[in-house]
Order: sequence, then structure tokens, then C-alpha cells
Amino acid sequence: MVTRRIAEILGNGQPDESVTIQGWVRTKRELKEFTFVEVNDGSSLANLQVVLNPDLPNYAEVLERLNTGASVEVAGVLVESPAKGQRIELKAKEVKVYGEANPETYPLQKKRHSFEFLRTIGHLRSRTNTFGSVFRVRNACATAIHQFFQERGFLWIHSPIITASDCEGAGEMFAVTTLNLKDVPRTDNQEIDYSQDFFGKSAYLTVSGQLEAEVMAMAFSNVYTFGPTFRAENSNTSRHLAEFWMVEPEMAFCDLQGDMDLAEAFLKHIFKFVLESCPSDMEFFNSRIDNTVLAIADNIINNQFERLTYTEAIALLEKADKAFEYPVKWGLDLQSEHERYLAEELFKKPVIVNDYPVEIKAFYMRLNDDEKTVRAMDVLAPKIGEIIGGSQREERLEVLERRIQQQGLNLDDYWWYLDLRRYGTVPHAGFGLGFERLVQFMTGMGNIRDVIPFPRAPLTVEF
Ligand code: 4AD
Ligand code: MG
Repeated sequence: MVTRRIAEILGNGQPDESVTIQGWVRTKRELKEFTFVEVNDGSSLANLQVVLNPDLPNYAEVLERLNTGASVEVAGVLVESPAKGQRIELKAKEVKVYGEANPETYPLQKKRHSFEFLRTIGHLRSRTNTFGSVFRVRNACATAIHQFFQERGFLWIHSPIITASDCEGAGEMFAVTTLNLKDVPRTDNQEIDYSQDFFGKSAYLTVSGQLEAEVMAMAFSNVYTFGPTFRAENSNTSRHLAEFWMVEPEMAFCDLQGDMDLAEAFLKHIFKFVLESCPSDMEFFNSRIDNTVLAIADNIINNQFERLTYTEAIALLEKADKAFEYPVKWGLDLQSEHERYLAEELFKKPVIVNDYPVEIKAFYMRLNDDEKTVRAMDVLAPKIGEIIGGSQREERLEVLERRIQQQGLNLDDYWWYLDLRRYGTVPHAGFGLGFERLVQFMTGMGNIRDVIPFPRAPLTVEF
């Protein structure tokens, strides 16, 4: 017996004498002469319609047990469907119910549920239409990302999850320790004695794989990371997670221009790939979630992104006929409302802002000759704001040492990172794409917690 996936059966659309499928019941419709059961196996948005006839040996029992949520295996004949709505349906010859789902207690009944409610049943929500589409599109985005880099000869490198260095220097790290929190060992001057901890020093969950990506780029020229990163920022917004996935390409012999070019080509590639591989899911988002999804995708693929400097962006924001909540002033960071104004209202497409003030950016970004700005760039997307953050890296040893010290960081912690500038240093650049923000942007989903299977955020760690 070969089991076939429902997506393949529906895509193929041909009758077949003998077919077996497995999945979960979405709905059951009992008529006088027979019963329709919609079965979904996660391979597509569409269900397969199964027809149960009373001549089935266990008809009464099956009817009783096959409620919404039950798991089932059906063997039968694929025939052209006489009804509208589908080309093909499965006439059951044998039905095996694996597990029932009591309609009195199973939370996913036919009615529409709010995303807030569905977050409380994170272990079941993937069985709904919306989350099925979200996680198929998420998978397609990941495939597109690997394809993009592999075709260009980038090596996928696996940066560590536990690290001793703070890449962003922002101190938003989760500590990793095996010390007994009820009886923490202390040094003579009452500091926590990390020499007794698992690693013999303090360790954290990584906020970014960039520093390790730079190490590898200095050997393989072009590399990328794709993995989970962690930030202990207490941000309860629809665009922040405590655990999120990041994609970080790093290129040796590359400047900021090349970095921005790569970011633009990269986003275009992902959108094109997803539109081609998940057309029904994307149409679902456009009709049910956000009716600008397909127009935005088309816009990304077919238009050049706008590029301007931070200084130009500030000038435009100052001229804007709009009351912003946060102040606009050269030297202050752009807030999400400013980013969205630029991308959504002013240019109506993604905007790449470069050369930010040195004070508001990380220590590793290359200092410009004006000594006031650094070679940073952010890609700002309509609805999302910052989706990519990147920079050309400081490759000059003395300047980098100075920047680390100016930011109050400890030079010794970065000895190996500084070695990259001592031995065979080259101009290099890279960026980080927030993977969940990409999936949000692609699908139009309003809350970032609804595009990752198991969201982690302040006070949220269930499932
Ligand atoms: O701008 P960020 O902090 O840049 C870095 O971490 C660099 N080391 C990247 C690099 O140059 N290799 O983060 C990069 C992206 C942001 O643009 C945003 O899309 C996403 O990561 N991001 C988050 N996504 C979800 N939740 C959070 N708390 C995020 N913080 C950043
Ligand atoms: Mg950033």
C-alpha cells in the first residue's frame, strides 16, 4: 500500500482505481444517502473530499467516530467529482479510524476562532487553515533562502547558540548557567563566581551569529548562518520575539554597496520563489488576512528599492506633514512609525537607509571618514519597518579597538575577533534578516507570534 499526499492527488487531478490517504477530519456532512468527510493531511490548504456510502462494512461505527479532529486512513477509488468545487473525490472502500476527537471537548470546531484564542492552544492551531498556510509559506521561505545562497556559492555555516560574547553590545542576553540559583557561589568581593560555572565563565544565548560568520567568511569568502537567536528585550510588540530565527550572510571583499545589492536581490528571490511554490496559500492570505499581500509581492519583485542616507531620511521626516509620537532629530534612532512612514506612505516600497550616526549603531560597523556616521544599512518594509539590518564591518584594527573601548566593552572578550584584523584582514560586509518578520511581511499576518510555531516572548513560553 502506498499512501499518497492530498496535495499531490489534487494537483494531479486524475482518477485512480486504488488510493490510500491518511489525515485528520476537518468536517463531516451527513446526507440521507451518504456522508461527505473533508480530510486534510497538511500538504495543502485544500481538503480531499471523501465519500462514505452506507454499504461500507463499518458505516455506522465510522460515522459515529469520524468527527472533526479525528485521525483517519481511507482506501478507495478516486473518481471525478460530480459536484462543483473539486475535480476529484475519494469513494471510500475501507476506513480506519486511528484516534477520535470528542466533539464535546475538542477546541477546534468549525466556527472561526480569534488568533488570540488560537495562541492559547498552540499545540492544535497548526490544524487550522491559516496556520497551515503560514507554516507552509514559512517552509518555502526557508527553502528559497538556502537555494539563493547555495546557487551563489555561499557556505551555510552553523554558528553556536551558546556564546561568551555579546555581538550587538546591547546587553540583551539570556544567561546560560548551571549554578545553583538558591546558593550562588561568590568571590571574596561578593561577585558571582562564574569560575565555578559550567563553562568556567559567564555564558549566554547568542543574539546574533555575525561574529562567528565573520570568522568563517575570512576562510570561505561567502557564508551565511540560518538559526535561532535570542534577545532578552522586554518588548511586548507585534514585531518582537525573545527567540527568533535570523539569516546572516557575510561576504569578504565586499563593501556596503555590494551588501545592499545582495539584500535587494535576496528579498526579490524569496518572494518570487514563494509565489511560485505556494500560490493557493498566498491567495488565501490575500483574500482572508490582508488584501495587499499579492500587490506588495508584485511590487517587491518588479520595482527597485529606494535608497537614501539616514541624513536624507531625517530631512524627509522633518518635512513630513504628520504628527509622530517620537521626536525626529539627527542623531536619534528611527522608530517603527518613522520607518513605516518612509516605506509605506512616502515611497510605497522597501527603502534602504544607510550611513547612520555612529552613536546609535553597534561597535563593529565601519566608521566613515566624517567620524560621525557608520557604514550601516537597514532595509525598511511597508507594514513591518526594519526587516534587515546590516553593515560594512570595521576591518582596521586600531579603529575597531577604539570603538570597542568607546562603547564600554571589554577588549579581552573580543581577542579572537580582533585577530581577524591582525591576520589577513579585508573589507567585508553582511546583514541579518529577521526570518519571522519576513514571514509576516510575506503573509500579512499582523502578529509575529502567529508566524512561528512556538513563540517565546515576555511571560510566554508554553508548549
Ligand atoms: O538589526 P539587528 O539587531 O542586526 C544584527 O543582529 C546584526 N548582527 C546582523 C548582521 O549584520 N549580521 O537584527 C537583524 C534583524 C532585524 O532587522 C530584525 O528583522 C530582526 O533581526 N530582529 C528581530 N526579529 C524578531 N524579534 C526581535 N526581538 C528582533 N530583533 C531583531
Ligand atoms: Mg537593527
